Amino acid sequence: MPPSVRIYEVGPRDGLQNEAAIIPTAAKARFVELLADAGLREIEATSFVSPRAIPQLADAEDLLKAVQPRPGVRYPALVPNVRGLERAEAAGVDAIAVFTATTDAFTGHNIGMTVDESLVAFKPVLARAKELGWWRRGYVSTAFGCPYTGRVEPGRAVEVGLRLLELGVEEICFGDTIGVAVPPQVTELTATAVAAGAPLERIAYHFHDTRGTALANVVAGLQAGVRCFDSSAGGTGGCPYAPGAAGNLATEDLVYLLDGLGYEHGVRLEAVLEAGRFIADQVGRPVASKVGQAGGWDPATGAPTGRG
Ligand code: COA
Ligand code: ZN
Repeated sequence: MPPSVRIYEVGPRDGLQNEAAIIPTAAKARFVELLADAGLREIEATSFVSPRAIPQLADAEDLLKAVQPRPGVRYPALVPNVRGLERAEAAGVDAIAVFTATTDAFTGHNIGMTVDESLVAFKPVLARAKELGWWRRGYVSTAFGCPYTGRVEPGRAVEVGLRLLELGVEEICFGDTIGVAVPPQVTELTATAVAAGAPLERIAYHFHDTRGTALANVVAGLQAGVRCFDSSAGGTGGCPYAPGAAGNLATEDLVYLLDGLGYEHGVRLEAVLEAGRFIADQVGRPVASKVGQAGGWDPATGAPTGRG
């Protein structure tokens, strides 16, 4: 049995929240369906946040109405507070992600709270989500570096991650929000987390490819035993409150790497390329990723694949 990896797709949420273009709800729903067609089983669909903070995702309720849910596919939504939880519940969500960070400077800009205040705000959210039997993830953004304060020590990211685990998340996701990490830092953060008691199977990584290190960081995560990575089809995205952050690691780049390394993940590269082209068209620019441009590759013939 080849080892298996979960690919957690964040394109519809992290991808679209930072695009200037407001995409029609029907096109977002089509994007989510193309992603499910490609075999993605975890698709972070939208956010129940303030529409003033993220106007791009103000249609969260309508989007979830427009998406025909598939059996076996999880569609988590971001929730920052009890208000978001109530909206999520009314919309029929059954998986959420709460999100904080390592520095008060970042959370202050992003969610108007200190890190400690955010954890206080999440407590009732996560308790209620657990009661409802929902899947729960917690993000630790700026896990390696903060655009306002600089370098972040791994011990700090782990401290926040452990507090999220105590509050009842099933998975912590360390985010390199501004794409500054290099592989030894991933190795060190993973080892620090595990030594502090975070189970390896509850750790995920979310790399932005701002400086071209995302895939190398995935390899370091794999070698450390992590088996869940975030990515966004077409390589869109970023956080509007993280100046200088570029797109997420592209799902097509991640799939190509995992295929080559022999990991099972259930996602078809050609279909991801199609979804990436679709959303790039919608946001009005070319696909940002390497594999999106070059296509896949058929070793039997030497020809590129999936270029549409
Ligand atoms: N959904 C919709 N509206 C919400 C909301 C939610 N979950 N939470 C708060 N609001 C509304 C309030 O009703 C209020 O509206 P009003 O001004 O019309 O009365 C307004 O947002 C401000 O609410 P307040 O409680 O004062 O919080 P705030 O202004 O400090 O904002 C957050 C806090 C968390 C709601 C806001 O910063 C936010 O949504 N951030 C999300 C950022 C994000 O998604 N970043 C990308 C992910 S990395
Ligand atoms: Zn991100």
